[in-house]
Amino acid sequence: MDRIRIVGGNKLNGVIPISGAKNAALPLMIASLLTDDTLTLENVPHLADVEQLIRILGNHGVDISVNGRRERQGESYARTIHFTCRNIVDTTAPYELVSKMRASFWVIGPLLAREGRARVSLPGGCAIGTRPVDLFIEGLAALSANIEIDGGYVNATAPEGGLIGARYTFPKVSVGATHVLMMAATLANGTTVLGNAAREPEVVDLANCLNAMGAKITGQGTSTITIEGVRSLSGARHRVLPDRIETGTYAMAVAMTGGDVILEDTDMALLDTALEAIRRAGAEITATNSGIRVVRNGAGIKPVDIVTDPFPGFPTDLQAQFMGLMTMAKGTSHITETIFENRFMHVQELARLGAKISLSGQTAKIEGVSRLKGAPVMATDLRASVSLVIAGLAAEGETMVSRVYHLDRGFERLEEKLTRCGAHVERVSD
Ligand code: EPZ
Repeated sequence: MDRIRIVGGNKLNGVIPISGAKNAALPLMIASLLTDDTLTLENVPHLADVEQLIRILGNHGVDISVNGRRERQGESYARTIHFTCRNIVDTTAPYELVSKMRASFWVIGPLLAREGRARVSLPGGCAIGTRPVDLFIEGLAALSANIEIDGGYVNATAPEGGLIGARYTFPKVSVGATHVLMMAATLANGTTVLGNAAREPEVVDLANCLNAMGAKITGQGTSTITIEGVRSLSGARHRVLPDRIETGTYAMAVAMTGGDVILEDTDMALLDTALEAIRRAGAEITATNSGIRVVRNGAGIKPVDIVTDPFPGFPTDLQAQFMGLMTMAKGTSHITETIFENRFMHVQELARLGAKISLSGQTAKIEGVSRLKGAPVMATDLRASVSLVIAGLAAEGETMVSRVYHLDRGFERLEEKLTRCGAHVERVSD
């Protein structure tokens, strides 16, 4: 199993290209199930989660062809992928596939809208919490779907003439349930109004792509989204938006090690709240023509308190990385996680590097230390594992991160991007 070896202490200087967003690419790929025409997505990141979803969509009958930009070591990235689903050949998403990646549950929306039925395995729990699917079920039922849960599967059927538009207000903000209800409602009869919808940029990206396919969606980016149902959708060409979590992660890495880095092909507007927190921690952040420049010279890291929240709040997907940064702040900071109940697995691993963190309920208290010292650590989930990489970059000596398959789910060419900026990071295959 691969591991990542980091020798800390180098500042980061250079340019890091930001990839297309994993969390936008996944729902966009799933939207290809809504049409028999070709959906072409540009700037799709080369990640384990994308490959897994390609397998899942193939199982439903989506024909997929990839045009890669072939670069370095014969690997392709920033790929353009064509998805064509002439016919849905299977409306079942089996446990073996869904259990590997929670987002694959989202196929339930398009399958139900286009075929009138879907049988999708419950995704089950995951390392960051129980993550139920009640909002999906309640929302689809509001569109008149009949839903039964049997043997670990959700069996959903639409009425004779298809789903029926309705008003539905989410009792809690959910990115995935907003994606699914929005996709399902595009082909419903009549108009759907979703209240308390997620406002994340990835929701806006999906809505824009669906509109390019012929859907009639308005209000994306606000908490009320209106979808006027249409009879069918066509193909489209769409570019996946930049990965705001990758952007924020590298910005925090620079704030941690010091240095001067340009994050290319990204946009400050995608992560205002997180960038503001990094600024308050002592880094200078400015817009460039094609991205963001992050600089930290001289001054130490200041303690900053944050609370995670749905967009436009501080993203839960950057919480672990920010904690990594705060471990070396000159003072005490507090981080409160409000989205997931168990997203602090990185605390114990950061402690192995010398961090001083104590937990009380959903709040972590971080007492900054003047130095971290490299150690063997274990990746526990995608974002937790990259927080260990960030801390390892600033720690003295060698940090060896095991179970890096978590990182491969969401960070394209991590070692290469960091090495080109002067970090000492390498992948070790046993
Ligand atoms: C998306 O997950 C992201 N995944 C997550 O990123 C991200 O952490 C999360 O949104 C929050 O921003 C993708 O986009 C693929 P939610 P999602 O439904 O949609 C509860 C990463 O590291 N909830 O917005 O699954 C849920 O348990 C991943 O890239 C219900 O109670 O998250 C959570 O507490 C991890 N019932 C809260 O809502 C439901 O039916 C928000 O979850 C659905 C969700």
